[in-house]
Amino acid sequence: MKDPLLMCPEESNHQTAVVRGPETSAQRALKKWPTGGFTRAPYWVYVDPDVYAKEQLTIFRGKTWNYLGLEAEVPEPGSFKTTYIGETSVLLTRAEDGSLNAMVNRCAHRGNMVCREAFGTVKKLNCVYHAWNYNLKGDLTHAAFRHGLRGEGGLPKDFDMAEHGLQKLRVATLCGLVFATFSDETEPLEDWLGDVATGIRRVLHKPLKVLGYDTQRIHANWKAYHENPRDSYHANILHTFYGTFGLSRQSQESGMVLDGAGRHVYFYTKAGTEKKSEDFNTTAADLRSHNDDLKLEDPSILKWRDEFGDGVSIQILTTYPSFVLHQIANSLATRQLLPKGPGQCDLVWTYFGFEDDDAETTRMRLLQANLAGSAGMVSVEDAAVCEMMQRAMADGQSGASFIEMGGRELDSGGASKLSERAIRNFWHNYRQDMDL
Ligand code: FES
Ligand SMILES: [Fe+2]
Repeated sequence: MKDPLLMCPEESNHQTAVVRGPETSAQRALKKWPTGGFTRAPYWVYVDPDVYAKEQLTIFRGKTWNYLGLEAEVPEPGSFKTTYIGETSVLLTRAEDGSLNAMVNRCAHRGNMVCREAFGTVKKLNCVYHAWNYNLKGDLTHAAFRHGLRGEGGLPKDFDMAEHGLQKLRVATLCGLVFATFSDETEPLEDWLGDVATGIRRVLHKPLKVLGYDTQRIHANWKAYHENPRDSYHANILHTFYGTFGLSRQSQESGMVLDGAGRHVYFYTKAGTEKKSEDFNTTAADLRSHNDDLKLEDPSILKWRDEFGDGVSIQILTTYPSFVLHQIANSLATRQLLPKGPGQCDLVWTYFGFEDDDAETTRMRLLQANLAGSAGMVSVEDAAVCEMMQRAMADGQSGASFIEMGGRELDSGGASKLSERAIRNFWHNYRQDMDL
């Protein structure tokens, strides 16, 4: 065998590819879900490549609605956006008739990616490899040299254009958000969202304007991140900025809402509604965030306006399996979670405001991206803690999360934010979908 260092990269990859043999009984035993059901999450589920491969099929390409983007990102006929559902490359278009269409971004000829740009406007979709063309709904309209040339080549006479379009997905929208599903069986989007749709309608109540993007690579399994915005009780503990400067404290009025199936959740907090209690004082003494002596030299980042008129300073909304909508003060953003292998994921942030925002409101939203954006003083800690978890559980050999804050049942904890109820419900749904 040649020295791997002397091989070209393709050759080297080929030679060093890992071939997994049949699973041993010891490995199977290790992968048994622990006693305790949805109050436990075994660490192997965050690292196992077979689990990861199955998730792509049964969750992302299964009966789930996955966020693709905002209607405002494909504003006119011919607009397109490329994105992903799980690891599948997906294309969102607006056709000439104004309809939104989603399809797998993979040519029906030999699997080439049809659109490479993130956004654009086109009259047709053209695959560069052999010039198969599709309309904006994904139907095949032209295959170069289909009839051959001077009697040579050409596709078989029974070639049926109608059978070789791009793979189409179902599309549905709510308040300017666009979702798609691979399954004909997924219930209608609003039924799927249930009571959590209320949290979407509250924020997205008028036409939107995109302000900017960023994407962060998180070196952690996608589920470690998905759990994070469902985890209402970490917010006032991990995020010292929140507690120290009063944007969110456990002593404030707050609540949590789940849909009937427990797939989705939003929680909220109202700044300035502190209720002191003896037990809070005892617990707060142990929080890193309980420091009344700290002051900001420039407190402008803390200025916010109650634009929805209900006193809610923070609302974090998560839909299964890959979407977050946040309102943190006046920062508004969607976050799209894209798995990139068992040990990493991308989080795509889209910051937005409303079409009728004045310049001062836009300035305030952009300023607060330094608090609530991917590198913001609060949100940066979420990715950091996910990466620390991944490093600590990387051996995947033993152990499991303990998820009993607020109780052991799916509904225990009620509307309290001091609860892991939404995480128990996530694992309950996940286990059903994965048959684990
Ligand atoms: S792969 Fe697209 S035209 Fe051949
Ligand atoms: Fe957080």
